[in-house]
Amino acid sequence: MNIYRMIILTLILALLGQFSAYAEQPLKLEAKESEYQFPFFDTQTTVWSYNGQIPGPIIHGKEGTSLVVDFLNKLKEPSSIHWHGLRIDNAMDGVPGVTQDPVGPGERFLYRLKLEDAGTFWYHPHFNSSEQLERGLKGVFIVDEADKQPWSRDLVWLMDDWLLQKDGNIYPQFNTGRDLMHDGRWGNAPTINGKFRPEFTVRPGERIRLRMINGANARIFSPHIQGLSADVIAIDGRPVSQIFPFDRFELSPGNRIDLDIRIPQQSGGKFFTVEDRFTRKSFLLATINVAQSESATTPEFTPPTLPDFIPTSMFENVQVAKTWDLNAIRGGKYGIGWTMNMKLWPDADTADYPLGVPRKVVFKNSSSRLHPMHIHGVFFRVLERNGKQAVEPFTRDTVLVGPKESITIGFVPNHPGIWLTHCHIQEHAEAGMMTTIDIKDKEQKY
Ligand code: C2O
Ligand code: CU
Repeated sequence: MNIYRMIILTLILALLGQFSAYAEQPLKLEAKESEYQFPFFDTQTTVWSYNGQIPGPIIHGKEGTSLVVDFLNKLKEPSSIHWHGLRIDNAMDGVPGVTQDPVGPGERFLYRLKLEDAGTFWYHPHFNSSEQLERGLKGVFIVDEADKQPWSRDLVWLMDDWLLQKDGNIYPQFNTGRDLMHDGRWGNAPTINGKFRPEFTVRPGERIRLRMINGANARIFSPHIQGLSADVIAIDGRPVSQIFPFDRFELSPGNRIDLDIRIPQQSGGKFFTVEDRFTRKSFLLATINVAQSESATTPEFTPPTLPDFIPTSMFENVQVAKTWDLNAIRGGKYGIGWTMNMKLWPDADTADYPLGVPRKVVFKNSSSRLHPMHIHGVFFRVLERNGKQAVEPFTRDTVLVGPKESITIGFVPNHPGIWLTHCHIQEHAEAGMMTTIDIKDKEQKY
């Protein structure tokens, strides 16, 4: 072989290598019935899981790259996967009847995800969600920053809340009158990563990124870390505008919070508890044990912030485009319906906005229940609470609207498509509290 042919061959091989390195290796997710051991029972509990795991596997992607998920539905009913918080192609958003057909039993769906934003996200079904999530279908989706910070440890806490019977079974009635009249289905077994009151061991001096995700159907968590100070670095998957000390945060279903925690150098042998303080009776969520070991060197760096991401100033001269009144009515398929402007999904009061134009929307809660309102495919800024200017140095994709509270938000739709907007208390959404925002590119024809 002459030298030229060798060079060409080497080039071809190098190119092939390149291609295979970038080839999209599909990641497999299988929804199926499986068994899970809770510590409370001798018997195993039948759950629905992704790949047999509770919670589902943590998906890792990298900012600016793409990922293909090959979803296979081995359940006896249709399902789908929604990528909560990710700004992706609308056709991949996983909402049956809106962005795709339901994925029937034995069927598969290829989700092609372009990962624009780094941060903490999660995935879950969007079909018969009040039952499918409650039976265990959910997982965390982490999009790593293109230039990753040297954290000593990255802790992921998927918080959940199960309603278990004494015999070890998941309470099999869903969307009960009790759930619907109140704030959805609250359980009796709060877990983190499927574990009850787990303990985490760290080393003195470590700098930890703690990502908390609320994947419960309805329970709101307000975690309190005793004895450790922490900084808030991201909310709902986006870096904050400005880093601030963590005090309390109402982590409603759908919400995520990322904390920067420094374990003190002299803390070997100590432990710190994390408890929930949302309900009147606080309870233990987890314990952080500091090993009696040599101190780690604390990495020094400043986590990224996004001071100019959807600034409130964008909305100064913007009129309110829509007020969604949130309330309950008699009727609907469960006898109690949860409405947005008196309408029950799928007969909803929808919105229709052009691409790229700042919009203001109001969620006005006329009921005395909780409604964590979520919008797919956008991040928004909370501008006002009950007519008073809100101070939130961050954006969100889910905001808890308290009893009789009115919240004004601002966003700039920059992804065309039909995006769902709903209460993330699964039972409320199931009973009608859901609508869509249709974002049209002016040129675009549907
Ligand atoms: Cu977690 Cu429709 O969303
Ligand atoms: Cu609600």
